[in-house]
Amino acid sequence: MMVFSGLLLAASDDKIIERIAPAGSVCVVGDSCAGGLGMASVAANSGSQDPEQTYNTYCVACHASGVNNSPIMGDAAAWQPRIDKGMDTLYENAINGFNNNAMPAKGLCMSCSNEDVMATVDYILSAVQ
Ligand code: HEC
Repeated sequence: MMVFSGLLLAASDDKIIERIAPAGSVCVVGDSCAGGLGMASVAANSGSQDPEQTYNTYCVACHASGVNNSPIMGDAAAWQPRIDKGMDTLYENAINGFNNNAMPAKGLCMSCSNEDVMATVDYILSAVQ
C-alpha cells in the first residue's frame, strides 16, 4: 500500500499534512511531485527495516515506560482512544511528529522510511490487538 508516499514533511515542519496521494501515484526522486517540501526523496522501497528492531532501538526509549505520557506498548487502555482516531492518523502522527514533537517525527528513526515507521506502528499495536 503506497498511499502514504506523499507524506514528506520534514521533522520541523508543522504544516498540515497534505494528504494523501491517490493510491498508485508514487513520487520518486526527480518527479515534480517529490521536490516540493524540501526533503530529498520518497523512499521507494517499503519496510526495509525490521519493525521489532526499530521499536527496540528507538520507540522503546519512550513507549516502554510512558515518557511524557506516551502510550505504553501493550497497554490496551492507553492505545484504544488512539486507535479510535484511525490508523491513517496514527501513521501520520508517527511519521510527522505529534503534539509539538512530544512524539518526535519518525520516533527519531531518521533512517526509517515512512513505510518502516508504519510497520513499526503496526508492530506496537499488535501487542494490544
Ligand atoms: C522521545 C519519546 C518518544 C519516542 C522515541 C517515540 N515516541 Fe511515539 N509518542 C511519544 C509521546 C509522548 C506520545 C504521545 C503524544 C501525545 O499524545 O501527546 C507518542 C505517541 C505515539 C503514537 C500515537 C499517536 C497518536 O496520534 O495518538 C504512535 C503511533 C507512536 N507514538 C509511535 C511511535 C513509534 C513507531 C516510535 C518509534 C519509531 C515512537 N513512537 C517513538 C513519545 C515518543
